[in-house]
Amino acid sequence: MPPSRARLVELGCGPGFYSRALAKSFPELDVLGVDQSCRQLEYAEQKAVALGVNNCRFERGDVFDVTRPAQSFDYLIASRLFTVLPGPARALAEMFRVLRSGGRCFIAEPRYKFWASIPLFMLWLVASVRGQANGCREPSMATVFSLERFEQLFYMQPWKSVRVWREGRYHYALCEKQ
Ligand SMILES: C[S@@+](CC[C@H](N)C(=O)[O-])C[C@H]1O[C@@H](n2cnc3c(N)ncnc32)[C@H](O)[C@@H]1O
Repeated sequence: MPPSRARLVELGCGPGFYSRALAKSFPELDVLGVDQSCRQLEYAEQKAVALGVNNCRFERGDVFDVTRPAQSFDYLIASRLFTVLPGPARALAEMFRVLRSGGRCFIAEPRYKFWASIPLFMLWLVASVRGQANGCREPSMATVFSLERFEQLFYMQPWKSVRVWREGRYHYALCEKQ
C-alpha cells in the first residue's frame, strides 16, 4: 500500500489507461499522466471524469524535459514509451532526476517488433488517410530492445537497485533510486 498522498507520474501516458487504473485502485495516490499528444490527453481526461476517478490528472509535456523540480515524485511508470522515442537514455536521465531518493520506477517495453508495430502502423495509416500525416509524430514502426540493450540503459544512472526481466511480450525493469 503506498503512503498517503504519494505522487506517481506516468510518462508517455497516451490514453491514460494505467494512470486511471492505478488512481482507481489506490485512492491515496496523486497520479499525474504526462504526454505530448493533446488528443490522447483529452481522451484520458474525459475517461477519468466519466469514471469518477478524481485523484488523477493529465498534463501536456515532454518526457525529455519534465516541468517539475528534481525529486518531485515517489513513483514513476512508463509503458511502451522507449519503443517510439529517439533517445531512451536521455529520457531515463530525466526520470532519474524527477524521482525522489528512495523512489521507484517501473518500465515496460515490448520485445517483438511485429506486435509492437501493429498499433503504430494503424495510427500512421489512419493519419495518412485523413491527410494528417505531418501531424502524426510517432514512427510507423516500433523500436524494440534485446534484453541486454534494455538492461544497459539502466547502467547510466546510479540506481540503488535495478531488476530487469522478461515475461510474455514485454521486458520489464524495476529500479529504486539511492
Ligand atoms: C506507444 S504509446 C504508449 C501509451 C501508453 N503508455 C500505453 O502503454 O498504452 C507512446 C506514447 O508516448 C507519447 N510520447 C512520445 N514521445 C513523447 C515525448 N517526447 N514526450 C511526451 N510523450 C511522448 C506518445 O504521444 C504516445 O502517447
